[in-house]
Amino acid sequence: MSAFSHHLFVCGNQRADGHPRGCCDPAGSGELRDCLKKALKARGLDGQVRANQAGCLDQCEWGPTLVIYPQGIWYGGVKLEDVPRIVEETIIGGKVIEELRIPDQWLNTPEGKAAGKQRRSDAAR
Ligand code: FES
Repeated sequence: MSAFSHHLFVCGNQRADGHPRGCCDPAGSGELRDCLKKALKARGLDGQVRANQAGCLDQCEWGPTLVIYPQGIWYGGVKLEDVPRIVEETIIGGKVIEELRIPDQWLNTPEGKAAGKQRRSDAAR
């Protein structure tokens, strides 16, 4: 059996309301992962591309967060309505969606956490 062409890890971590880092799935519904799985299946990609629920990916401030391997593409602030674009543009088309991307230089840095918090705050307005 061949390896998956893309393996999506979708953070489903829950934290209590008001936690300073926030979390990716406050309701604990797994809805984003489920939506991705359905979209992949609808495009006939379910044997080739896998979407798994993950625990905290430590990019909480950017949440909801997912990472796509082996490409190493990190997306933050992902909404259900972004799923068709992720499947069509990134998985099928090989294009990174810049407005969802967490820049590499902001992964695991204090500046990145601040930037993520700002982006999340801007998106909530
Ligand atoms: S809670 Fe999702 S990355 Fe930490």
